[in-house]
Amino acid sequence: MCGIVGYLGVRPATPVLVEGLHRLEYRGYDSAGVAVVRDGDIVVTKTAGRVRDLRDKLADNPATVGIAHTRWATHGEPSDRNAHPHLDATGRVAVVHNGIIENAEQLRAQLTADGVVFVSETDTEVLAHLVAREDAATLEDAVRAALRGVEGTYGLVVLDRSRPGELVVARNGSPIVLGIGDGEMFIASDVAALVHHTQQVVFLDDGELATVTAEGFRTSTVEARRTSKTPTTVEHAADDYELGGHTDFMRKEMAEQPEAIARALRGRLDERFATAHLGGLGLDPMALRAVKRVKFLGCGSAYYAGQMGAALVEELARIPADAEPASEFRYRNPVVDPDALYVAVSQSGETIDTLAAVQELRRKGGRVIGAVNVVGSAIARECGSGVFLHAGPEVSVASTKALTNMTVSFAMLALLLGRVRDLSAAAGARIVTGLRALPGQVERVLADDAEIARIAKRYAHARHMFFLGRVSGWPVAREGAQKLKEISYIHAEAYQAAELKHGPLALVDADMPSVVIVPADDLVAKNIGTIEQVKARGGPVIVITNADLPDGLADEVIRVPRGEPELDPILLTIPLQLLAYHTASALGRDIDKPRNLAKSVTVE
Ligand code: G6P
Repeated sequence: MCGIVGYLGVRPATPVLVEGLHRLEYRGYDSAGVAVVRDGDIVVTKTAGRVRDLRDKLADNPATVGIAHTRWATHGEPSDRNAHPHLDATGRVAVVHNGIIENAEQLRAQLTADGVVFVSETDTEVLAHLVAREDAATLEDAVRAALRGVEGTYGLVVLDRSRPGELVVARNGSPIVLGIGDGEMFIASDVAALVHHTQQVVFLDDGELATVTAEGFRTSTVEARRTSKTPTTVEHAADDYELGGHTDFMRKEMAEQPEAIARALRGRLDERFATAHLGGLGLDPMALRAVKRVKFLGCGSAYYAGQMGAALVEELARIPADAEPASEFRYRNPVVDPDALYVAVSQSGETIDTLAAVQELRRKGGRVIGAVNVVGSAIARECGSGVFLHAGPEVSVASTKALTNMTVSFAMLALLLGRVRDLSAAAGARIVTGLRALPGQVERVLADDAEIARIAKRYAHARHMFFLGRVSGWPVAREGAQKLKEISYIHAEAYQAAELKHGPLALVDADMPSVVIVPADDLVAKNIGTIEQVKARGGPVIVITNADLPDGLADEVIRVPRGEPELDPILLTIPLQLLAYHTASALGRDIDKPRNLAKSVTVE
């Protein structure tokens, strides 16, 4: 979703800003813009379209200070006019902003009544006018005063042409990170835009402002209380965000799964006691035993991973567990169970619905931990404890390695909860062995790439597909349908296999392929029955399985290795990534940047 870049220093700002925007493209956007100070004026260049279109519009410019933005439309269509940066009426102040100003309409009406003429439909333009109207000693004071009347979320950067030696940034709900260089400073909404220049960064907290100059920065709260910040060193190297010979990030990230799983497991499996160590949970055995229920909360793939996690917890720990979309939870006035453990699941740690669910839980005294990939992200900080996923940076909108590491982490959580209860040491040891085998098994599934590509090509013309699964195969089917929808734009629906005959079977014909998930569990015979029902209506069937099935049962069979049955969903998900990937590729889709979607959804 929207991205921010700012620069102050010794080099021409424009190339630094454009390069930073390129690195934020993965978040999803529909327009882009840059503002720099030149000869005492703010020069703004914007475009509805890609960053490369913006780059083509930009003239060479020696300005050494500037701000830039990629926008994902919320208020007003994607257009040059609505793209950021936004200026006040005199052109003195320019603002880039992520988030949503909730009282924008009211502020707009007040400003209009005072004679301000708006040029865009955005909520952000309000900020530029408000800052410019403040008569304050410093730009920081002007921003602080303007923000007093603002409700909503923001990560923002303000440029004032009369003070070209500084930028003022502020954060409330949308990330802002400062990158510390040598005689230069970088600003971004995501470290991905900074790591090429510096690994020394400072994350602003909600309610904080900073004045940034080429030499450094000074932070304070909205109430003007000084704060002190210690820079942290980001782990990720610049090449984590490079394709490194791959055609796109989704392909790269799928290929990275064996090493990502190994990283998630490192130091966390205990052979001696056949359990897991998850130090970040901050829960001792007494506290773990006191957990009466587990609920996973997340959005999109993170929700489906949570569903797989709930099944693992029920099986291994025999505690009731379920998953719920975080967005539903936050709005339905949930009953918060003081004996439950809530798990907020998020790759980015920024998803606003998941963050809001965490805040609601904390407000009601619920015990919530995070299962988050991005260290230092809002959800990780709000939870304060949890399991980091250690998948490494994930750039492609379609989540692969992060999702896999979510389920691997939930298997460890379930093992730990099980082993403080009635899961025997032998059963625990079986799961430990199963987890250790996963990287090699995933490698074997990935090696089936060419065969899955062939199958994908064969069915890429389909306009609709079913994904069917029972019990442990059901969240796998949901995730498979989600992947296909996201990147190929083929309509895909997941059904519990037994539900098929209660309605959706009416849709099955030769043009409606079904992908059926068949784990080697007690339900194989039932799943064979489902496949036959589909076949009898002329529907093509693609089976994903590790079971022994009769020859000729399905049109296509994709096999995965057989491991410990509880871990089957992890392996069965991998071919579905490849199936979606190759279908999208056969259809010529922009795989890493699917239309209308954003990597991190930071608005409601
Ligand atoms: C967006 C993405 C999904 C992702 C979801 C949750 O909708 O398009 O692919 O699963 O957000 O993201 P999170 O960062 O919270 O895991």
